[in-house]
Amino acid sequence: MLDKESLKILREALEKLDAGFAVLPDYDARVPGANRVVETLAATAERLHDNYPYFHPLYAGQMLKPPHPVARLAYALAQWINPNNHALDGGRATSAMEKEAVAGIAEMFGWREHLGHLCGGGTMANLEALWVAGQLAPEKKILASEQAHYTHGRISGVLQLPFAAVPCDARGRMDLVNLRELVARGDVGTVVATMGTTATGSVDSLAEILELREKHGFRVHADAAYGGYFGLAGNLGEDARRGFDLLHRVDSIVIDPHKHGLQPYGCGCVVFRDPGVGKLYKHDSPYTYFSSKELHLGEISLECSRPGAAAAALWATQKLLPLEKGGEFARGLEDCREAALDLHRRLERDSRFVTAFPPELDIVVFAPRASSVSESAERSRKIFAAAARRNLHLAVAELPVEFFAGNLGAMKKDQASLTCLRSVLMKPEHKEWVGRIWEILGEAAEECIGK
Ligand SMILES: Cc1ncc(COP(=O)(O)O)c(C=O)c1O
Repeated sequence: MLDKESLKILREALEKLDAGFAVLPDYDARVPGANRVVETLAATAERLHDNYPYFHPLYAGQMLKPPHPVARLAYALAQWINPNNHALDGGRATSAMEKEAVAGIAEMFGWREHLGHLCGGGTMANLEALWVAGQLAPEKKILASEQAHYTHGRISGVLQLPFAAVPCDARGRMDLVNLRELVARGDVGTVVATMGTTATGSVDSLAEILELREKHGFRVHADAAYGGYFGLAGNLGEDARRGFDLLHRVDSIVIDPHKHGLQPYGCGCVVFRDPGVGKLYKHDSPYTYFSSKELHLGEISLECSRPGAAAAALWATQKLLPLEKGGEFARGLEDCREAALDLHRRLERDSRFVTAFPPELDIVVFAPRASSVSESAERSRKIFAAAARRNLHLAVAELPVEFFAGNLGAMKKDQASLTCLRSVLMKPEHKEWVGRIWEILGEAAEECIGK
């Protein structure tokens, strides 16, 4: 885990950064508690042991991905300045880096013109997108699927916008029959299309949603917080490919660089196709915006102070690994998807397990076969714990039984939802580690349910 090379690189970069401020007179920085920093940091390291090993390929549970070393280093480097991207006088360089990095993301979606910025994460980014949606269509309904991230309902509550959840089909995508019926009522302002659901990585049918927009005139917001970068992958299935190829036609997109974009936490992004929505943010601040007539990012963002370090990290990562189809970054995503397909195929061939539909991105959900759904749920929990004892960390999810319906065989459907196992294979290394993961899973299953 310890990447000693990074420390050397950071030192060199810090010396370069320092040289840029060499004209300033020396001063004695006051560092309260300076002589206790070493022991305090050692105590911090001790406390941090109480974590799952998110960086390791045997962590194959929740949506957690280690930041790229260049992101970690650029973030640390920028901390010595600690810029604030609210206003240009708080972070001139990092504001410019943010604008460039966000333009790179918008371009990945096919937008030359756009309005967008970074923020704390997917929830904050979706809040802004729905806040804009609510300003443009006050009192109209927000629709998102039952498998959409739970925060859409809560955000709508905060914004006091009516919200309805659209049921899903058997592949975890927004059900189009239900959607057609709901939008025909004429009271829908925005449909949220999830481009990769949190639980199963299902991609809503954007083509059909956009067709309905033509007829009914609602806004389409794409929640691509988790899935957004997969448009670069060359190995998507036909349905997902079609959806990602149409992303440029939606009104707003949320993507989380802190999920698949190799960034430390605290890096979400919202982009709007129409830069004109900037006028909705119009406000004045008596304390800032005086140093330049150029756009201050705080003028187009709901949050005030934001870490310029996050922008430096993202900018450096995109400079090193441009967001290009066929590039190194895209290959990483392709490897993740291959890992997921590999694990899904192994599970399908093994009679001890039941699978759901094949993964559209890099999330696999499965359950141990049993006489009933409730028994399978119990076994899922046992295997989860037995795998963890062997250092394989999976996740557990509660999903509708219909997702597994075609594969349940004689299993009695004695409850509507199934507590199953879930694995997000979002590290490219997972491609090489599926074999080992499979071995450990097999041992854990044998311990809990026999051969
Ligand atoms: C599809 C989707 N949207 C939104 C979010 C919320 O993002 P965050 O946790 O960064 O606030 C998530 C988180 O997993 C997600 O998967």
